[in-house]
Amino acid sequence: MAKGKVLFTCSECGGNSPKWLGKCPHCNAWNSLLEGVAESAAPVKNRFASLAKTAVAATLADIEASDVARTPTGLEELDRVLGGGIVEGAVVLIGGDPGIGKSTLLLQALDALQRAGLNTLYVTGEESGAQVALRARRLGVGQSQVSVLAEIQLENILAAIEQRQPAVAVIDSIQTIYSELLTSAPGSVAQVRECAAHLTRAAKAGATTIVLVGHVTKEGALAGPRVLEHMVDTVLYFEGDTHSSFRLVRAIKNRFGAVNEIGVFAMTDKGLKGVSNPSAIFLSQHEQPVPGSCVMVTLEGTRPLLVEIQALVDSGGPSPRRLSVGLERDRLAMLLAVLHRHAGVACMDQDVFVNAVGGVRISEPAADLAVLLAITSSLRGKPLPKGFIAFGEIGLAGEVRPAPRGQERLKEAAKLGFAQAIVPKANAPKKSIDGMTIHAVERVEEALEVVRGLN
Ligand code: TYD
Ligand code: MG
Repeated sequence: MAKGKVLFTCSECGGNSPKWLGKCPHCNAWNSLLEGVAESAAPVKNRFASLAKTAVAATLADIEASDVARTPTGLEELDRVLGGGIVEGAVVLIGGDPGIGKSTLLLQALDALQRAGLNTLYVTGEESGAQVALRARRLGVGQSQVSVLAEIQLENILAAIEQRQPAVAVIDSIQTIYSELLTSAPGSVAQVRECAAHLTRAAKAGATTIVLVGHVTKEGALAGPRVLEHMVDTVLYFEGDTHSSFRLVRAIKNRFGAVNEIGVFAMTDKGLKGVSNPSAIFLSQHEQPVPGSCVMVTLEGTRPLLVEIQALVDSGGPSPRRLSVGLERDRLAMLLAVLHRHAGVACMDQDVFVNAVGGVRISEPAADLAVLLAITSSLRGKPLPKGFIAFGEIGLAGEVRPAPRGQERLKEAAKLGFAQAIVPKANAPKKSIDGMTIHAVERVEEALEVVRGLN
Protein backbone atom coordinates (compact mmCIF):
# COMPACT_ATOMS: atom_id res chain seq x y z
CA MET A 1 0.00 0.00 0.00
CA ALA A 2 1.35 3.48 -0.88
CA LYS A 3 2.11 5.44 2.22
CA GLY A 4 0.14 8.69 2.21
CA LYS A 5 0.46 11.71 4.44
CA VAL A 6 -2.00 12.27 7.22
CA LEU A 7 -4.37 15.05 6.33
CA PHE A 8 -7.33 16.51 8.17
CA THR A 9 -10.42 17.32 6.16
CA CYS A 10 -13.30 19.53 7.25
CA SER A 11 -16.63 17.70 7.17
CA GLU A 12 -18.41 21.02 6.60
CA CYS A 13 -16.52 22.73 3.77
CA GLY A 14 -14.15 19.97 2.62
CA GLY A 15 -11.08 22.16 3.24
CA ASN A 16 -7.82 20.53 4.30
CA SER A 17 -5.39 21.18 7.10
CA PRO A 18 -2.07 19.42 7.76
CA LYS A 19 -2.75 19.25 11.48
CA TRP A 20 -5.79 18.88 13.68
CA LEU A 21 -7.40 22.13 14.75
CA GLY A 22 -10.45 22.73 16.88
CA LYS A 23 -11.74 25.20 14.33
CA CYS A 24 -11.63 24.82 10.56
CA PRO A 25 -9.27 27.48 9.13
CA HIS A 26 -11.46 27.76 6.00
CA CYS A 27 -15.05 27.93 7.19
CA ASN A 28 -14.55 28.45 10.93
CA ALA A 29 -16.74 25.48 11.83
CA TRP A 30 -15.91 23.96 15.20
CA ASN A 31 -14.86 20.35 15.69
CA SER A 32 -15.33 19.49 12.05
CA LEU A 33 -11.85 18.21 11.10
CA LEU A 34 -11.62 14.48 10.51
CA GLU A 35 -8.43 12.55 10.04
CA GLY A 36 -7.72 10.95 6.69
CA VAL A 37 -4.86 9.95 4.44
CA ALA A 38 -3.83 12.21 1.56
CA GLU A 39 -3.16 10.55 -1.75
CA SER A 40 0.54 10.82 -2.39
CA ALA A 41 1.22 14.22 -4.03
CA ALA A 42 3.20 13.07 -7.06
CA PRO A 43 1.63 9.93 -8.48
CA VAL A 44 4.13 7.30 -9.53
CA LYS A 45 4.38 7.41 -13.27
CA ASN A 46 3.33 4.19 -14.90
CA ARG A 47 5.80 3.34 -17.63
CA PHE A 48 3.29 1.09 -19.30
CA ALA A 49 0.48 3.61 -19.19
CA SER A 50 0.29 3.84 -22.98
CA LEU A 51 -0.25 0.07 -23.22
CA ALA A 52 -2.86 -0.11 -20.50
CA LYS A 53 -6.48 -0.63 -21.44
CA THR A 54 -8.75 2.26 -20.64
CA ALA A 55 -12.32 1.59 -19.66
CA VAL A 56 -14.67 2.00 -22.59
CA ALA A 57 -18.33 2.79 -22.19
CA ALA A 58 -20.67 0.16 -23.62
CA THR A 59 -24.43 0.05 -23.99
CA LEU A 60 -26.41 -1.96 -21.49
CA ALA A 61 -27.51 -4.31 -24.24
CA ASP A 62 -23.91 -5.16 -25.08
CA ILE A 63 -22.81 -5.86 -21.54
CA GLU A 64 -23.16 -9.47 -20.60
CA ALA A 65 -25.08 -9.68 -17.38
CA SER A 66 -23.80 -12.59 -15.42
CA ASP A 67 -25.90 -13.88 -12.62
CA VAL A 68 -23.92 -13.60 -9.42
CA ALA A 69 -22.69 -16.91 -8.14
CA ARG A 70 -23.68 -17.54 -4.56
CA THR A 71 -22.30 -20.01 -2.12
CA PRO A 72 -24.77 -21.06 0.57
CA THR A 73 -23.30 -20.74 4.04
CA GLY A 74 -25.04 -23.86 5.23
CA LEU A 75 -27.09 -21.88 7.74
CA GLU A 76 -30.47 -21.63 6.10
CA GLU A 77 -31.69 -18.58 8.00
CA LEU A 78 -28.49 -16.67 7.26
CA ASP A 79 -28.71 -17.57 3.58
CA ARG A 80 -32.26 -16.28 3.54
CA VAL A 81 -31.19 -12.77 4.61
CA LEU A 82 -28.16 -12.80 2.35
CA GLY A 83 -30.39 -13.56 -0.62
CA GLY A 84 -29.24 -17.15 -1.11
CA GLY A 85 -25.65 -17.19 0.09
CA ILE A 86 -22.40 -15.26 -0.01
CA VAL A 87 -21.31 -13.57 -3.22
CA GLU A 88 -17.69 -13.62 -4.37
CA GLY A 89 -15.90 -10.32 -3.72
CA ALA A 90 -18.82 -8.83 -1.78
CA VAL A 91 -18.47 -7.00 1.51
CA VAL A 92 -21.03 -7.71 4.22
CA LEU A 93 -21.43 -5.67 7.39
CA ILE A 94 -23.03 -7.34 10.41
CA GLY A 95 -24.00 -4.93 13.16
CA GLY A 96 -25.60 -5.42 16.54
CA ASP A 97 -25.30 -4.89 20.25
CA PRO A 98 -22.37 -6.48 22.05
CA GLY A 99 -23.16 -10.00 23.24
CA ILE A 100 -26.04 -10.59 20.84
CA GLY A 101 -24.31 -13.41 18.94
CA LYS A 102 -22.38 -11.95 16.01
CA SER A 103 -19.16 -13.87 16.68
CA THR A 104 -21.09 -17.06 17.36
CA LEU A 105 -23.05 -16.89 14.11
CA LEU A 106 -19.99 -16.12 12.00
CA LEU A 107 -17.88 -18.85 13.52
CA GLN A 108 -20.67 -21.33 12.80
CA ALA A 109 -20.96 -20.05 9.23
CA LEU A 110 -17.19 -20.21 8.62
CA ASP A 111 -17.05 -23.75 9.93
CA ALA A 112 -19.86 -24.82 7.60
CA LEU A 113 -18.15 -23.12 4.63
CA GLN A 114 -14.80 -24.67 5.49
CA ARG A 115 -16.41 -28.08 5.66
CA ALA A 116 -17.91 -27.41 2.25
CA GLY A 117 -14.35 -27.09 0.95
CA LEU A 118 -13.85 -23.32 1.02
CA ASN A 119 -10.80 -21.66 2.46
CA THR A 120 -11.81 -19.38 5.34
CA LEU A 121 -10.10 -16.91 7.66
CA TYR A 122 -11.38 -15.57 10.98
CA VAL A 123 -9.55 -12.44 12.11
CA THR A 124 -10.18 -11.72 15.76
CA GLY A 125 -9.30 -8.39 17.27
CA GLU A 126 -11.37 -8.75 20.40
CA GLU A 127 -10.54 -12.18 21.66
CA SER A 128 -7.39 -14.28 21.73
CA GLY A 129 -7.06 -17.39 19.59
CA ALA A 130 -7.59 -19.45 22.75
CA GLN A 131 -10.89 -17.73 23.48
CA VAL A 132 -12.07 -18.36 19.94
CA ALA A 133 -11.04 -21.99 20.25
CA LEU A 134 -13.00 -22.23 23.50
CA ARG A 135 -16.10 -20.91 21.79
CA ALA A 136 -15.55 -23.33 18.90
CA ARG A 137 -15.46 -26.23 21.38
CA ARG A 138 -18.72 -25.03 22.86
CA LEU A 139 -20.26 -24.89 19.41
CA GLY A 140 -19.09 -28.41 18.73
CA VAL A 141 -16.71 -27.30 15.99
CA GLY A 142 -13.49 -27.61 18.00
CA GLN A 143 -11.82 -29.70 15.30
CA SER A 144 -12.63 -27.18 12.60
CA GLN A 145 -10.06 -26.27 9.93
CA VAL A 146 -11.02 -22.57 9.97
CA SER A 147 -7.84 -20.43 10.16
CA VAL A 148 -7.81 -18.00 13.08
CA LEU A 149 -5.65 -14.89 13.10
CA ALA A 150 -5.48 -12.75 16.22
CA GLU A 151 -4.41 -9.42 14.73
CA ILE A 152 -5.52 -5.81 14.91
CA GLN A 153 -3.21 -4.08 12.49
CA LEU A 154 -4.80 -3.50 9.11
CA GLU A 155 -1.59 -3.85 7.10
CA ASN A 156 -0.91 -7.31 8.55
CA ILE A 157 -4.50 -8.39 7.94
CA LEU A 158 -4.35 -7.26 4.33
CA ALA A 159 -1.09 -9.15 3.88
CA ALA A 160 -2.66 -12.29 5.35
CA ILE A 161 -5.64 -12.01 3.01
CA GLU A 162 -3.39 -11.48 0.02
CA GLN A 163 -1.21 -14.41 0.93
CA ARG A 164 -3.94 -16.90 1.83
CA GLN A 165 -6.58 -15.78 -0.64
CA PRO A 166 -9.44 -17.10 1.51
CA ALA A 167 -12.89 -17.40 -0.04
CA VAL A 168 -14.36 -15.78 3.05
CA ALA A 169 -12.67 -13.61 5.67
CA VAL A 170 -14.40 -12.38 8.80
CA ILE A 171 -13.05 -9.29 10.57
CA ASP A 172 -14.30 -9.35 14.16
CA SER A 173 -14.61 -6.46 14.76
CA ILE A 174 -13.91 -3.48 12.51
CA GLN A 175 -13.78 -1.24 15.59
CA THR A 176 -10.69 -2.99 16.94
CA ILE A 177 -8.65 -2.71 13.72
CA TYR A 178 -6.27 0.18 13.16
CA SER A 179 -4.10 1.38 10.32
CA GLU A 180 -0.62 2.58 11.21
CA LEU A 181 -1.07 5.46 8.78
CA LEU A 182 -3.48 7.20 11.12
CA THR A 183 -2.74 8.45 14.57
CA SER A 184 -6.28 8.29 15.91
CA ALA A 185 -7.34 5.43 18.14
CA PRO A 186 -8.93 2.20 16.87
CA GLY A 187 -12.68 2.58 16.76
CA SER A 188 -12.60 6.26 15.81
CA VAL A 189 -14.59 7.23 12.76
CA ALA A 190 -11.41 7.94 10.78
CA GLN A 191 -9.89 4.53 11.57
CA VAL A 192 -13.09 2.59 10.98
CA ARG A 193 -13.64 4.28 7.64
CA GLU A 194 -10.06 3.97 6.46
CA CYS A 195 -9.78 0.30 7.44
CA ALA A 196 -13.11 -0.59 5.87
CA ALA A 197 -12.14 1.18 2.64
CA HIS A 198 -8.91 -0.83 2.33
CA LEU A 199 -10.63 -4.10 3.16
CA THR A 200 -13.34 -3.35 0.60
CA ARG A 201 -10.66 -2.75 -2.00
CA ALA A 202 -8.99 -6.03 -1.08
CA ALA A 203 -12.31 -7.86 -1.45
CA LYS A 204 -12.96 -6.41 -4.88
CA ALA A 205 -9.38 -7.02 -6.05
CA GLY A 206 -9.28 -10.67 -5.06
CA ALA A 207 -12.17 -13.04 -4.90
CA THR A 208 -12.58 -12.84 -1.14
CA THR A 209 -15.92 -12.19 0.50
CA ILE A 210 -15.24 -9.99 3.50
CA VAL A 211 -17.58 -9.91 6.47
CA LEU A 212 -17.10 -6.95 8.81
CA VAL A 213 -18.49 -7.16 12.31
CA GLY A 214 -19.48 -3.84 13.85
CA HIS A 215 -20.79 -3.02 17.30
CA VAL A 216 -23.60 -0.53 17.43
CA THR A 217 -23.01 1.87 20.27
CA LYS A 218 -26.03 2.94 22.28
CA GLU A 219 -25.99 6.27 20.45
CA GLY A 220 -25.59 4.43 17.17
CA ALA A 221 -23.62 7.24 15.60
CA LEU A 222 -20.02 7.81 16.58
CA ALA A 223 -17.69 4.98 15.65
CA GLY A 224 -20.73 2.89 14.98
CA PRO A 225 -20.92 0.92 11.77
CA ARG A 226 -23.40 3.42 10.40
CA VAL A 227 -20.56 5.29 8.68
CA LEU A 228 -19.83 2.14 6.69
CA GLU A 229 -23.29 1.37 5.38
CA HIS A 230 -22.75 3.11 2.05
CA MET A 231 -19.40 1.41 1.40
CA VAL A 232 -20.50 -2.19 1.69
CA ASP A 233 -22.78 -4.36 -0.46
CA THR A 234 -24.91 -5.87 2.27
CA VAL A 235 -25.82 -4.62 5.73
CA LEU A 236 -27.30 -7.03 8.25
CA TYR A 237 -28.40 -6.07 11.72
CA PHE A 238 -28.97 -8.32 14.69
CA GLU A 239 -32.09 -7.56 16.68
CA GLY A 240 -33.58 -9.11 19.75
CA ASP A 241 -33.56 -8.96 23.42
CA THR A 242 -30.37 -10.39 24.95
CA HIS A 243 -32.58 -11.71 27.77
CA SER A 244 -34.69 -13.83 25.46
CA SER A 245 -33.15 -16.55 23.37
CA PHE A 246 -34.53 -15.42 20.02
CA ARG A 247 -32.47 -13.34 17.63
CA LEU A 248 -33.49 -11.73 14.37
CA VAL A 249 -31.03 -10.92 11.62
CA ARG A 250 -32.44 -8.33 9.27
CA ALA A 251 -31.12 -7.19 5.89
CA ILE A 252 -31.14 -3.38 5.83
CA LYS A 253 -29.34 -3.09 2.52
CA ASN A 254 -28.56 -5.79 0.00
CA ARG A 255 -27.16 -5.28 -3.46
CA PHE A 256 -27.68 -8.99 -4.12
CA GLY A 257 -31.07 -9.69 -2.59
CA ALA A 258 -34.25 -8.39 -1.01
CA VAL A 259 -34.13 -6.03 1.93
CA ASN A 260 -36.15 -6.42 5.07
CA GLU A 261 -35.90 -10.16 4.81
CA ILE A 262 -35.32 -11.64 8.24
CA GLY A 263 -33.59 -14.70 9.55
CA VAL A 264 -34.66 -16.05 12.91
CA PHE A 265 -32.38 -17.86 15.31
CA ALA A 266 -32.58 -19.22 18.81
CA MET A 267 -29.50 -18.98 21.04
CA THR A 268 -28.89 -22.36 22.62
CA ASP A 269 -26.03 -23.69 24.71
CA LYS A 270 -24.56 -24.99 21.45
CA GLY A 271 -24.77 -21.75 19.50
CA LEU A 272 -27.42 -20.31 17.20
CA LYS A 273 -30.02 -22.62 15.69
CA GLY A 274 -32.24 -21.51 12.83
CA VAL A 275 -35.97 -21.27 13.55
CA SER A 276 -37.71 -22.21 10.34
CA ASN A 277 -41.25 -21.61 11.58
CA PRO A 278 -41.00 -18.48 13.69
CA SER A 279 -44.52 -17.09 13.50
CA ALA A 280 -45.46 -17.65 17.15
CA ILE A 281 -42.20 -16.90 18.98
CA PHE A 282 -42.98 -13.28 19.85
CA LEU A 283 -46.16 -14.00 21.74
CA SER A 284 -45.98 -13.89 25.50
CA GLN A 285 -48.07 -16.61 27.02
CA HIS A 286 -50.74 -15.09 29.24
CA GLU A 287 -52.95 -17.61 31.01
CA GLN A 288 -55.85 -15.19 30.86
CA PRO A 289 -56.19 -12.12 28.61
CA VAL A 290 -54.70 -9.01 30.26
CA PRO A 291 -55.50 -5.35 29.63
CA GLY A 292 -53.07 -3.47 27.39
CA SER A 293 -52.14 -6.37 25.15
CA CYS A 294 -53.02 -6.80 21.49
CA VAL A 295 -51.50 -9.27 19.03
CA MET A 296 -50.72 -8.14 15.51
CA VAL A 297 -49.50 -10.00 12.43
CA THR A 298 -46.53 -8.35 10.84
CA LEU A 299 -45.08 -9.36 7.50
CA GLU A 300 -41.37 -8.82 7.53
CA GLY A 301 -39.74 -10.17 4.43
CA THR A 302 -41.63 -13.19 3.22
CA ARG A 303 -42.94 -14.71 6.44
CA PRO A 304 -45.77 -13.53 8.68
CA LEU A 305 -44.88 -13.08 12.35
CA LEU A 306 -47.32 -12.70 15.21
CA VAL A 307 -46.11 -10.12 17.66
CA GLU A 308 -47.73 -9.02 20.89
CA ILE A 309 -47.96 -5.26 21.33
CA GLN A 310 -48.21 -4.12 24.92
CA ALA A 311 -49.31 -0.75 26.19
CA LEU A 312 -49.42 0.77 29.63
CA VAL A 313 -51.35 3.96 30.24
CA ASP A 314 -50.89 5.45 33.67
CA SER A 315 -51.57 8.85 35.17
CA GLY A 316 -48.52 11.00 34.55
CA GLY A 317 -47.02 14.14 35.97
CA PRO A 318 -47.21 17.65 34.52
CA SER A 319 -45.37 16.57 31.37
CA PRO A 320 -46.58 13.04 30.62
CA ARG A 321 -44.17 10.65 28.97
CA ARG A 322 -44.51 8.78 25.70
CA LEU A 323 -42.15 5.89 25.38
CA SER A 324 -41.96 3.13 22.83
CA VAL A 325 -39.71 0.13 22.54
CA GLY A 326 -39.53 -1.55 19.15
CA LEU A 327 -42.01 0.88 17.61
CA GLU A 328 -41.53 4.43 16.35
CA ARG A 329 -42.07 7.08 18.98
CA ASP A 330 -43.18 9.78 16.56
CA ARG A 331 -45.80 7.42 15.27
CA LEU A 332 -47.06 6.90 18.84
CA ALA A 333 -47.59 10.65 19.28
CA MET A 334 -49.49 10.73 16.01
CA LEU A 335 -51.69 7.79 17.00
CA LEU A 336 -52.56 9.43 20.31
CA ALA A 337 -53.58 12.58 18.45
CA VAL A 338 -55.78 10.59 16.06
CA LEU A 339 -57.30 8.73 19.00
CA HIS A 340 -58.20 12.01 20.63
CA ARG A 341 -59.52 13.88 17.61
CA HIS A 342 -61.41 11.09 15.91
CA ALA A 343 -62.47 8.78 18.72
CA GLY A 344 -62.63 11.28 21.57
CA VAL A 345 -60.27 9.25 23.76
CA ALA A 346 -57.85 11.58 25.53
CA CYS A 347 -54.51 10.56 27.05
CA MET A 348 -53.20 14.09 27.53
CA ASP A 349 -52.48 13.73 31.25
CA GLN A 350 -51.33 10.11 31.04
CA ASP A 351 -47.96 8.45 30.62
CA VAL A 352 -48.13 6.09 27.64
CA PHE A 353 -45.66 3.25 27.18
CA VAL A 354 -45.77 0.78 24.31
CA ASN A 355 -43.60 -2.22 23.66
CA ALA A 356 -43.24 -4.89 20.98
CA VAL A 357 -42.61 -8.11 22.90
CA GLY A 358 -39.35 -10.02 22.42
CA GLY A 359 -37.10 -7.14 21.35
CA VAL A 360 -38.42 -7.24 17.79
CA ARG A 361 -38.50 -3.96 15.90
CA ILE A 362 -41.59 -3.19 13.86
CA SER A 363 -41.28 -0.46 11.31
CA GLU A 364 -44.37 -1.12 9.21
CA PRO A 365 -47.41 1.11 9.80
CA ALA A 366 -49.69 -1.94 9.85
CA ALA A 367 -48.92 -2.05 13.59
CA ASP A 368 -50.97 1.14 14.16
CA LEU A 369 -54.33 -0.49 14.85
CA ALA A 370 -52.89 -3.00 17.32
CA VAL A 371 -51.04 -0.19 19.14
CA LEU A 372 -54.23 1.85 19.39
CA LEU A 373 -56.29 -1.07 20.65
CA ALA A 374 -53.63 -1.97 23.22
CA ILE A 375 -53.63 1.64 24.46
CA THR A 376 -57.41 1.87 24.77
CA SER A 377 -57.51 -1.54 26.42
CA SER A 378 -54.99 -0.40 29.05
CA LEU A 379 -56.77 2.92 29.53
CA ARG A 380 -60.06 1.19 30.22
CA GLY A 381 -58.52 -1.69 32.14
CA LYS A 382 -60.40 -4.11 29.88
CA PRO A 383 -58.57 -6.93 28.14
CA LEU A 384 -59.22 -7.77 24.52
CA PRO A 385 -60.85 -11.18 24.05
CA LYS A 386 -58.74 -14.33 23.97
CA GLY A 387 -57.43 -15.27 20.54
CA PHE A 388 -57.77 -11.78 19.12
CA ILE A 389 -55.59 -10.06 16.49
CA ALA A 390 -55.63 -6.73 14.68
CA PHE A 391 -53.60 -4.98 12.02
CA GLY A 392 -53.98 -1.95 9.78
CA GLU A 393 -52.42 1.41 9.15
CA ILE A 394 -54.10 4.49 10.60
CA GLY A 395 -54.23 7.78 8.72
CA LEU A 396 -54.43 11.30 10.09
CA ALA A 397 -58.06 11.53 9.05
CA GLY A 398 -58.91 8.58 11.28
CA GLU A 399 -59.22 6.11 8.42
CA VAL A 400 -57.96 2.52 8.69
CA ARG A 401 -55.90 1.69 5.64
CA PRO A 402 -55.16 -1.80 4.31
CA ALA A 403 -51.91 -3.61 4.97
CA PRO A 404 -50.13 -5.45 2.16
CA ARG A 405 -50.92 -9.19 1.85
CA GLY A 406 -53.70 -9.16 4.42
CA GLN A 407 -54.99 -12.63 3.53
CA GLU A 408 -51.66 -14.22 4.29
CA ARG A 409 -51.58 -12.52 7.68
CA LEU A 410 -55.08 -13.69 8.55
CA LYS A 411 -54.42 -17.25 7.44
CA GLU A 412 -51.29 -17.47 9.59
CA ALA A 413 -53.21 -16.19 12.62
CA ALA A 414 -56.04 -18.67 12.01
CA LYS A 415 -53.48 -21.46 11.74
CA LEU A 416 -52.21 -20.57 15.21
CA GLY A 417 -55.71 -20.68 16.66
CA PHE A 418 -56.66 -16.99 16.68
CA ALA A 419 -60.41 -16.73 16.35
CA GLN A 420 -61.22 -13.02 16.05
CA ALA A 421 -59.72 -10.21 14.02
CA ILE A 422 -60.27 -6.54 13.35
CA VAL A 423 -58.85 -5.64 9.97
CA PRO A 424 -59.14 -2.83 7.41
CA LYS A 425 -62.13 -3.26 5.12
CA ALA A 426 -59.94 -3.75 2.04
CA ASN A 427 -58.18 -6.66 3.77
CA ALA A 428 -61.37 -8.56 4.57
CA PRO A 429 -61.27 -11.85 2.68
CA LYS A 430 -64.04 -12.61 0.20
CA LYS A 431 -64.21 -16.20 1.35
CA SER A 432 -64.52 -16.73 5.07
CA ILE A 433 -61.56 -18.22 6.92
CA ASP A 434 -62.30 -21.36 8.93
CA GLY A 435 -62.60 -20.75 12.65
CA MET A 436 -62.13 -16.99 12.43
CA THR A 437 -64.59 -14.13 12.87
CA ILE A 438 -63.41 -11.11 10.95
CA HIS A 439 -64.62 -7.58 11.65
CA ALA A 440 -63.81 -5.23 8.78
CA VAL A 441 -63.57 -1.56 9.69
CA GLU A 442 -62.95 1.66 7.82
CA ARG A 443 -62.42 4.08 10.70
CA VAL A 444 -60.80 4.22 14.13
CA GLU A 445 -64.13 4.96 15.86
CA GLU A 446 -65.60 1.88 14.22
CA ALA A 447 -62.76 -0.32 15.48
CA LEU A 448 -63.27 0.91 19.05
CA GLU A 449 -66.99 0.34 18.71
CA VAL A 450 -66.41 -3.27 17.62
CA VAL A 451 -64.10 -3.85 20.61
CA ARG A 452 -66.68 -2.42 22.99
CA GLY A 453 -69.20 -4.87 21.57
CA LEU A 454 -66.82 -7.77 22.21
CA ASN A 455 -66.17 -7.01 25.90
P1 TYD B 1 -21.19 -13.51 20.99
O1 TYD B 1 -21.27 -14.25 19.72
O2 TYD B 1 -19.85 -13.48 21.66
O3 TYD B 1 -21.71 -12.02 20.82
P2 TYD B 1 -21.10 -10.78 20.00
O4 TYD B 1 -19.99 -11.31 19.16
O5 TYD B 1 -22.25 -10.25 19.23
O6 TYD B 1 -20.63 -9.81 21.02
O7 TYD B 1 -22.29 -14.12 21.95
C1 TYD B 1 -22.18 -13.97 23.26
C2 TYD B 1 -23.38 -14.45 24.02
O8 TYD B 1 -23.96 -15.64 23.54
C3 TYD B 1 -22.92 -14.75 25.42
O9 TYD B 1 -23.77 -14.04 26.30
C4 TYD B 1 -23.00 -16.20 25.57
C5 TYD B 1 -24.03 -16.61 24.55
N1 TYD B 1 -23.76 -17.93 23.98
C6 TYD B 1 -24.66 -18.95 24.17
O10 TYD B 1 -25.68 -18.79 24.84
N2 TYD B 1 -24.43 -20.18 23.60
C7 TYD B 1 -23.32 -20.42 22.86
O11 TYD B 1 -23.16 -21.54 22.36
C8 TYD B 1 -22.39 -19.35 22.70
C9 TYD B 1 -21.13 -19.57 21.89
C10 TYD B 1 -22.65 -18.13 23.24
MG1 MG C 1 -17.96 -10.84 19.39
